[in-house]
Amino acid sequence: MELVINPPQPVFDQLINLAGATHGWAHQPYDYKFYEDAFDGYWLICMVDTTKDPKDNFVAGGCLARWDAPNEEPLYSIGLYYCREEFRGKGYGKPVFKAMMDIVGGANCVLTAAVDMSEKYADIFGFKEMPEYWHLEAEIQPGKMRIPELSDSYTTENCKNVDPDQLTNYDLTICSRNRKKKMELWFQQNEVFTKVAFDSAHKIVGYCTIRVVNLNRLCAAPFYAENPEVAARLLADVSKIIPNFEKYEKLIFWYPSVNKNMESMLSKFFPKDAYHIKIDFRTQFTKKMIKSRDDVVYSVACSTHQFV
Ligand SMILES: CC(C)(COP(=O)(O)OP(=O)(O)OC[C@H]1O[C@@H](n2cnc3c(N)ncnc32)[C@H](O)[C@@H]1OP(=O)(O)O)[C@@H](O)C(=O)NCCC(=O)NCCS
Repeated sequence: MELVINPPQPVFDQLINLAGATHGWAHQPYDYKFYEDAFDGYWLICMVDTTKDPKDNFVAGGCLARWDAPNEEPLYSIGLYYCREEFRGKGYGKPVFKAMMDIVGGANCVLTAAVDMSEKYADIFGFKEMPEYWHLEAEIQPGKMRIPELSDSYTTENCKNVDPDQLTNYDLTICSRNRKKKMELWFQQNEVFTKVAFDSAHKIVGYCTIRVVNLNRLCAAPFYAENPEVAARLLADVSKIIPNFEKYEKLIFWYPSVNKNMESMLSKFFPKDAYHIKIDFRTQFTKKMIKSRDDVVYSVACSTHQFV
């Protein structure tokens, strides 16, 4: 076994394929390059079995990203921390995590903790700064969607027709760290569909990206809306620009449980047997919790390296 940093693409592919199959984590092979390009530092740290073929050598791994911002402390994030099922509990995961924490040092770091790992991260590595609430996952069958009657108070535009500065200014009302570079790159990735919602005064009142992820699924990342009518308009309009929307097996949302409008929106679009909701993760920081406007969040931008 060997601990390697930034191994070739097939190692990342093994990680996302295994994590998708056993835990439903939603990724695409291009995420590896995207994280590297979008963040200011990026490390995929993996334990690999050197006796195996490089397409089948993944044992355990995790990824660490550093996000620098003017006049703010760097923020690290840890995601995709995963060990191949047959190797769990044998001490391969911990050295991966420790190697990432050695790079983080005394800086602020965030992760989205699975339910059974939340307390361990807090107790062992100091991820103690967190909101009181958990994030939920809603899994939906797109084929059962029926668009309800919608308010015509709001309109939507494809994001490429929207003034990027206006969108960044709106985004800053939700996430206080400037994500212009990250989001612009995100919107350009393959099979990523984004619409921005406006009110009658042409003020931005929300935006929604839905992207295709592995295992014939879709996920909303991100989805923000100032009120339930905006959310309904965005969901309806984005679903219409996704070719064969109804053929995907699932559409996934990760949202903070303080957003009380999510469930009522889902019940307007889907019969009860078309979706289920479960507690999924908790957002935890080491030094300082960065607040976000979570009551307007219908899905976070990324459950691997973002906190909103
Ligand atoms: C979490 C995971 C990566 C740990 O890898 P592993 O190789 O099984 O872990 P190790 O054998 O090195 O760990 C030994 C012990 O340390 C704990 N541990 C491992 N990594 C840890 C971490 N980062 N923080 C705190 N505790 C940790 C383990 O839970 C285990 O505890 P236990 O003996 O009480 O069960 C692995 O269990 C896994 O893939 N789980 C499913 C995916 C998942 O939930 N990932 C975490 C998402 S937040």
